[in-house]
Amino acid sequence: MHHFAYRRGVSEANVLHAEEVDLCDLASSVGTPFYCYSTATLERHYRVFAEAFAARPDTLLCYSIKANSNLGVLSTLAKLGAGMDVVSEGELRRALKVGVPGDRIAFSGVGKTQAEMAHALEAGIYAFNVESEPELHALNEVAEAKGTTARIAFRVNPDVDAGTHHKISTGKAEDKFGVPFEQALSLYQKAVALPGVVPAGVHMHIGSQITELAPFQNAFALLTELVSTLRGAGLTIDFVNLGGGLGIPYRSDAPAPPLPTDYARLVNEALGHLDARLLFEPGRMIAGNAGILVARVLYVKTSPHKNFTIVDAAMNDLIRPTLYDAYHQVLPVTEAAPESFTRVTDVVGPVCETGDYLALARPLPELEAGDLIAVMTAGAYGAVQASQYNSRLLVPEVLVSGAEYCVTRPRPDYNDMLKAERLPDWQ
Ligand code: LLP
Repeated sequence: MHHFAYRRGVSEANVLHAEEVDLCDLASSVGTPFYCYSTATLERHYRVFAEAFAARPDTLLCYSIKANSNLGVLSTLAKLGAGMDVVSEGELRRALKVGVPGDRIAFSGVGKTQAEMAHALEAGIYAFNVESEPELHALNEVAEAKGTTARIAFRVNPDVDAGTHHKISTGKAEDKFGVPFEQALSLYQKAVALPGVVPAGVHMHIGSQITELAPFQNAFALLTELVSTLRGAGLTIDFVNLGGGLGIPYRSDAPAPPLPTDYARLVNEALGHLDARLLFEPGRMIAGNAGILVARVLYVKTSPHKNFTIVDAAMNDLIRPTLYDAYHQVLPVTEAAPESFTRVTDVVGPVCETGDYLALARPLPELEAGDLIAVMTAGAYGAVQASQYNSRLLVPEVLVSGAEYCVTRPRPDYNDMLKAERLPDWQ
């Protein structure tokens, strides 16, 4: 459920609104392209997930910042009590900046530097998700030097198939993530012997956009088994971090992914009996449907072979279609009359790459230069993955709440772009 819907605009036509904000008006004042996020949708998704675990009040929801790290988005979630899952010092600084207490932050990632570890220790984070033995020793060294200890969970790789796109699957043995399941016990035993780390939990994240419960079920069974093995060996395991990964609906003609309540039921069945605090790291599920990318049609190019709708947003603004073959629904911002003519078209950007597209072979109402389109479900892994490829400016991000909006990240200008670089002295 999201809060982007057609409503009667100033003219006769129905216009797509973000909550109460008319997107034609917003495009006129902000310029295109831009990302637009809905506060009500973010809040709703967070609450739905949190309420699914209301029976376990110590549950810690660590929103996965990598999905959408806009400070307006983070602060919306922080105000609801969200913890955060971070993967870099930059993300950690963002979480702290919006007031997330250190003890609600988990730090993941296969390549944390010692400087990042030191910063996270100073922030007093809840736990590090450790992904290799060398990382364990590096963390132990940093903590010892600081005269402190780091609470850790090993991220365990269960070698299960998440049934998702291969580039966003993380829990197979061949993926770079986590420590092999069969090495876990011996690594925990090594960790216990180190003065700078306290192994206190277990962590798992098997992939993203998972649209069935079975992969989770398989992973949770292994995790439960691991907790008993570790406890049997005398270790204290007081939290279990189940990562993120729950999929969201990108298209209406595909089966709907499980609801958070279905996922929560599975979690409770599989792990409810464990006396352990549960942590989650949902990203896409919170932010995905809460954001859209609005672009303007520049040209419509028709040929005997194909039609191209060329818009002012491109793969550098939203790379998901070309990187993961991802489908994003494209809607005209001004609703087409029901009887209007439909044309099958590729929706492409100005970037000089054949892979620069937002949608392929899409039946769309006839669009003309100047019309606005909305690329839906772009709130997660959209703006965060944007680049300046082709020296295109990063697009602004706008947060809407009711009838209000704030440009939470303004569009830079070309001077900003050029000022960020310098020429060598010898030139
Ligand atoms: N925790 C860890 C350790 C992760 O690596 C991730 C995502 C999450 C949590 C959040 O997963 P989510 O709930 O959002 O599925 N750029 C890709 C997705 C990459 C996901 C990376 N890790 C995309 O656009 O589909």
